Amino acid sequence: MPLTQRLAQSKKSMNLFDVYPLYNVTPVSAKGIVVTDDKGQEYLDFYGGHAVISIGHSHPHYVKRIKDQLDKIGFYSNAVQNPLQVELATKLGQLSNCEDYNLFLCNSGAEANENALKMASFHTGKTRVISFKNGFHGRTSAAVAATDNEKINAPLNKQQKVTILPLNDIDAFAHEITKGDVCGVIIEAIQGVGGLDEPSTAFYQEISKLSKQNGVILIADEVQSGFGRSGKFFGFQHHDIQPDIISIAKGMGNGFPVGGILIHESIKASYGLLGTTFGGNHLACVATMAVLEVLEKEKLMENASQLGVYFNEMAAEIPQVKRVKGRGLMLGLEFDFEVAELRKKLIYEQHIFTGGAKDKYVLRFLPALNITKNDIDIFFNALKEELK
Ligand SMILES: Cc1ncc(COP(=O)(O)O)c(C=O)c1O
Repeated sequence: MPLTQRLAQSKKSMNLFDVYPLYNVTPVSAKGIVVTDDKGQEYLDFYGGHAVISIGHSHPHYVKRIKDQLDKIGFYSNAVQNPLQVELATKLGQLSNCEDYNLFLCNSGAEANENALKMASFHTGKTRVISFKNGFHGRTSAAVAATDNEKINAPLNKQQKVTILPLNDIDAFAHEITKGDVCGVIIEAIQGVGGLDEPSTAFYQEISKLSKQNGVILIADEVQSGFGRSGKFFGFQHHDIQPDIISIAKGMGNGFPVGGILIHESIKASYGLLGTTFGGNHLACVATMAVLEVLEKEKLMENASQLGVYFNEMAAEIPQVKRVKGRGLMLGLEFDFEVAELRKKLIYEQHIFTGGAKDKYVLRFLPALNITKNDIDIFFNALKEELK
């Protein structure tokens, strides 16, 4: 090979696969709800890295738990005993009031839903899934097929049998579920990515009843609304129903990649049915334990619930806000204009992170669950400033 060609080749370097449109901010440290960038600029984080930061960045108890564990053992596979998983299942069952479920641990929200849908199919021997308009369940095989977004479904995913129905349309639901080929129904208690629409209590109870009557597995996707964000441990607990499978991730690890499903004990396990290399590793377990301990000790579900009410009161003072959506600290402000520019101004001028949604008119508010009224005041003052 000529020398010039060899030189040109040696200059080539690997780039990132360019799938994320990025804001021009480079966080290098974070504490509580304050994120600091590489220039020393501080930002208030009312986005929580997409509803992930549940107990605040670098919470001292969380940091200590993970550091201590790392000094002992960080990882071993699921071929050996791991008492931390048992400890975690016990604590999670108590705090969530879901003691008649069994826990399977994995690594992300999509993986949780993928396993949930797989379990529905294993259990029923059937193949079709019912999901809902504007729902989001992740980007893997069946989870993405159940997600209402054509653009992120490859031809491979489109082979799955999924029927996407309008939320809160009980006639459409009854018509589909009685056809006899449905294995599972998957639903978010509060739609995250979609823009914070919710099933009504009557709808949730009716689909729960019809699922049971037709031998179909009801999957509560609590990946975003779970772990206290809605003011109760799980979003479905606002509606007095009992799903067969509950999927969890995001706030569960406060940034540590961990997910899982709670499977009702009426659904039986067998060796090899589900599995993962990394799921339930020692670090993931202590990260989740730390989150649960802080949720309990600092009464964060109560805080989320109370501050949700306060947020609504403050939003009522802003004439441009058409509607407040969501519950607890899983909230959105609906405007009569698209919010992309407002989000940019909040970041670059007010140094405040917020979230967007598929519904372009909704600005999302997904902070850590231990924020204060004062933090909410700061948010609304900044918002008023940008809306002037
Ligand atoms: C409700 C819901 N389910 C599943 C997922 C997918 O989770 P992950 O990105 O961890 O795969 C998300 C992510 O936003 C979500 O909001």
